[in-house]
Order: sequence, then structure tokens, then C-alpha cells
Amino acid sequence: MLLKDVGKTPDEIRALVKKYMIETYERYDFICERVEGMYLYNEKGEGYLDFYGGIAVNNAGNRNPKVVAAAKEQLDHVMHTFNYPYTIPQALLAEKVCTLLGYDKIFYQNSGTESNEAMIKMARKYGIEKYGPEHYHIITAKNSFHGRTMGALAATGQPQSACHIGFGPMLPGFTYADFGNLDSFKSLVTKNTIAIMLELVQGEGGVHPATQEFVDGIRKLCADNNMLFLVDEIQTGWCRTGKVMAHQHYGFKPDIMSMAKALGGGMPIGAIVTSNEIAKAFNAGSHGTTYGGNPVACAAALAQITELIDRDLAGNAAKIGEYFMKKLRTLPRVKEVRGKGLLVGLEFTDPIGLDVKHGCVDRKMLVTLIGKNLIRMIPPLIATEADCDKAVEILRASIEAVKA
Ligand SMILES: Cc1ncc(COP(=O)(O)O)c(C=O)c1O
Repeated sequence: MLLKDVGKTPDEIRALVKKYMIETYERYDFICERVEGMYLYNEKGEGYLDFYGGIAVNNAGNRNPKVVAAAKEQLDHVMHTFNYPYTIPQALLAEKVCTLLGYDKIFYQNSGTESNEAMIKMARKYGIEKYGPEHYHIITAKNSFHGRTMGALAATGQPQSACHIGFGPMLPGFTYADFGNLDSFKSLVTKNTIAIMLELVQGEGGVHPATQEFVDGIRKLCADNNMLFLVDEIQTGWCRTGKVMAHQHYGFKPDIMSMAKALGGGMPIGAIVTSNEIAKAFNAGSHGTTYGGNPVACAAALAQITELIDRDLAGNAAKIGEYFMKKLRTLPRVKEVRGKGLLVGLEFTDPIGLDVKHGCVDRKMLVTLIGKNLIRMIPPLIATEADCDKAVEILRASIEAVKA
């Protein structure tokens, strides 16, 4: 839809949103009418350099032409059926994801939080059936983020944050250990623990990559205690960190892995993958979803993955991410630059994050703010050195404009 087609002004659109929508987001104050590649365009046709990528979704570029074409083509055949008949995109996507990542089975969902629900449910049922009715406890990390539905929210280790407060009581069966601290995880293992669930780079929690030593320790802890290692690759997956999946940096394969976001390249889809043995926990009637495995989303996802792999966008994320982080370290008032690939955090010495974010939007660049001190950047993985140079200059001007 375009403003000219619906006969409305930008202010009228803003007014409708304010009047009718329950708003929980801090908006960039422009109407997005068009997107392409590294840019979002406002109603005047002015481009905004995209360094948030629809929150790690548009990894192959905004509105990647091959992804769009695949979705349009599928719309002409089957738009939705529910999961009674077989559909072609589901089958082809399942084969592609499983063979590429070395898993036996996939289960489709629609979003990240739902994929984590499926992962948690599968681990619980596996544990209860194999070891007994109390064997469903999962240890997650403090400061983690796994989603906003009640199971994924309970897994999210942020009991004092706005995403938890007011929504209690939480689903029982979760405890939170210190991310990066193996002893903290060890101390929470009980005879009823079935799994440890982690992001390998905490994204919403402030861009914290796990160390090799920590991940090796968690793997051993899981192996020694018959626990599953569940990995949430919703933000880190699909080439974001410089490998197809973040766990590949650490030389292991999770027992169950959740994914979403960049899988669909802009179409809502999520999934879990696992082994034949663990997958047996789900059988007829035990889990399901109306839209999960929607043929249009699956067709788009198949095109998206093909683009990501064929163009080696993981390689580009690794190379450009390194270049970008080096340049970011030359900026003033920076305490730390950290990340993996193109999942990048820029932490300031003082709480100037909101001002810098607004400064960036004013200068036509889009970033996300975490807390008061940290700008997170998760651009499309087609980003070039020139895009990063431009981003660094906009950040520099925005930082310098904030009064000391
Ligand atoms: C690591 C992680 N898990 C889960 C989610 C939830 O995904 P969704 O917003 O698609 O439900 C997010 C979203 O930011 C995420 O970063």
C-alpha cells in the first residue's frame, strides 16, 4: 500500500496508529513505504541506511528479489492448506535445512518464541518419558532472551525486567545461571534437570558472545548428566555471526536448535531441528500449529537460504563484521565494541545511547538501542565496507553532537 493509493497523509497514518493500536514499540518517526537492499525509504523517497535488518531478519537484503519472486510464485498456487495435504515447499525446505545443518528432522513454527516453545516442550516430553514425571527442569542464562509467550518468557532469564514484571506466575521448571560462568550452571543441576538452553551470543541481553571454554564446559556438563544442550539460534542463525549457525564456531551440534527471523527473509516462519531419537517425543496430537509450515513462508525460506549460502553471506558477515568493529573502535566515548560477524554491540562509557540512536535516525541511519549505553547493529549481510564507513561517520557525528 502507498499513501497515494489510500489517500492519506503521513500524519493521518500516525494518528490512526496512535488511536487504534496498542503501542509497545519506540517507533522511528517515519512512514516506511518501500524497502530495498540496504535501505528503507520514507514517504518522500528518502533512504535510511539499514543497520537493524528488521531485527536480524533481512539477512539477504531487504526484499531480496529472489525471496520475493519465490513467495509471489507460491501465492499463485497454494497460499494455505493447514498441514493435512503434503505441500511441495515444506518438503523441499525440510530437506534443505536438515541436510545443510546435519539434522534428521524439522518441525515448523511461525516465529521465534513459538520455536522456543516447541524446543522446550520437546525437551520436557523427552525427559519425562525417558526419566520420569519430574524430569523437566531446564537451566537457562541470566540476561537471556527467548521470547514473549509464557514458556519462552519463563525461559528468559530476566526476572526483574519489563518483559517479566506483571505477567506472573511464571511457568515452573526454569532456573537461571550466570552466562559464561560454568560453576553457576553446575550449581543448578539437579536430578530432574533435562536440559541447558542458551543463546551462543546473547543478543537482546547486550551482544555477549560465549567463550569457547564456557561452551565446552556446558557440553561436558550436559554429557555427564544426561542433559540435552538446547541452542536458540533465532538471532544468531542463518549467517549472522560469520558461520551459517553460531554453534559452528564452537565445533559442536546442539541436541535441539531453534531458528526463526532470517530463515524466512521477511516471511514469518520458525522451526526446530533435532535427531530422530529426540523427535520421537512429538507424535500425533502432541504438538501442532495452524500456520506452521505455511507454503508461502516455506517457499520464501527456501529462496532465502539458497541466497545466503550461494552468495556466502556468512563469509561476508565475518569479513565485514571484522572491518566494521575495527572502525567502530576509533569512535569517541566508546567503552567496548563486541560481537561476532555482523551482530555488533557498541557500548558507550556513559548513558548516551538514546541520544545517539536519535542522532542516527536524524542522519538517516537505523540502529537499535539496548539499555542506556549500548547500540546494537544487525544489518543485512549484504553490507559492504562502504556501508560500514558511512555508518561509522553517522555514528561519529551523532556521538559528537551529544553534550559531554
Ligand atoms: C534469541 C532470541 N530468541 C527468541 C526471540 C523471539 O523471537 P520472535 O520475536 O520471533 O518471537 C528473539 C527475538 O528477538 C531472539 O533474539
